[in-house]
Amino acid sequence: MSNERSVINFTRGVPANESLPVTAMQSAVQAALDNHGQTMLQYGKAYGFVPLREWLAESNGLSVDQVLITNGSLQIVEFLSYHFIQPGDVIFTELPTYDRALTLLKRHNAKVVGIELEPDGPNIEALEQALAQHTPKFFYIIPDFQNPTGATCSLEKRQKIAALAEKHGFWILEDGPYRPLRFQGEEHPSFFDLAPERTLHMFAFTKLIGPGVRTGVLLGSAEVLAKVAKIAENTYICPALFGQGAVYEFCRTGELDKQIERIKTLYAPRLQACLDSIAEHLPDVEATRPEGGFFMSLTFPEGVTNAAVREAAKKYNLNLADGQAFFPNGGGERFLRLPYCALSPEEINDGVSRLAMAIRDVQAS
Ligand SMILES: Cc1ncc(COP(=O)(O)O)c(C=O)c1O
Repeated sequence: MSNERSVINFTRGVPANESLPVTAMQSAVQAALDNHGQTMLQYGKAYGFVPLREWLAESNGLSVDQVLITNGSLQIVEFLSYHFIQPGDVIFTELPTYDRALTLLKRHNAKVVGIELEPDGPNIEALEQALAQHTPKFFYIIPDFQNPTGATCSLEKRQKIAALAEKHGFWILEDGPYRPLRFQGEEHPSFFDLAPERTLHMFAFTKLIGPGVRTGVLLGSAEVLAKVAKIAENTYICPALFGQGAVYEFCRTGELDKQIERIKTLYAPRLQACLDSIAEHLPDVEATRPEGGFFMSLTFPEGVTNAAVREAAKKYNLNLADGQAFFPNGGGERFLRLPYCALSPEEINDGVSRLAMAIRDVQAS
């Protein structure tokens, strides 16, 4: 039961504790130790645990040298930044985009150019205008249930972006951790399906199984992956094979598919609760309407800033995240990301009604 005094966090995109498959993982860990104990406890290849790479290669119709596994997927952004970026090189991202990826790109002194994101994906005119000025080393894009907006790129825009990548010769770095979490509507082909020669596709088991397995995956060009593997080796010798062994058994035995169905059943009503409570408590606030994933976002009316609402929300024991962190070069003053997966529908409704009170306080002040 939530009440006015309990704290509600609309801050981070964490999986719900009750989604974490502890019992199924116990069996997976036991089976992994039985079948691969020495391999999992020993140093191995920088590319990651071979049986899991083979399983992923087969599931995706790739050769094994097109699969590299890391300690969580953010590590992939770091390694690719290290590989591709010289100080001042241009990288395109959606605007807004995942804040932690931005932190890494900036740490490598990339010049980050944000391409305005619309409900159906990046604004193609803005992309063409940016391409008239720069050819990026890569376009970092989260096409399915984007972090932070929940937006999904339409098929038409995917085709246009893939054609532009071909024409201008830049990589698409497709980040797809939420792609399997579609609650409604039709799935579109990935960029990796549409333009495999120009796409590096990354995803993770983080949001499907749990962040604790720290298992991120990069699929694509064997040549680029060989470079990344060298960087990985020089960073940590090999990634954590223990978690990868457990993930392998979890996948191989069909538990992953069951888990995805379970979490979709858990999360879909949470998204619906978020949409319903916004319609009820915040009818005048501009909101995205995702069809899956972990996030939706709001844009407050003119004159109402995230900073002011965040401050006002404290009185109601409601924690909100800074909206500006998702914008590479300023902006986002009225932006709020709402991660809904780790809250019950009751908490979501309670949280949104507190948010409405905080916004009213700001408007009244
Ligand atoms: C788009 C996106 N990419 C990468 C990550 C990081 O995932 P991991 O924990 O696997 O490093 C997240 C986590 O929120 C994310 O939203």
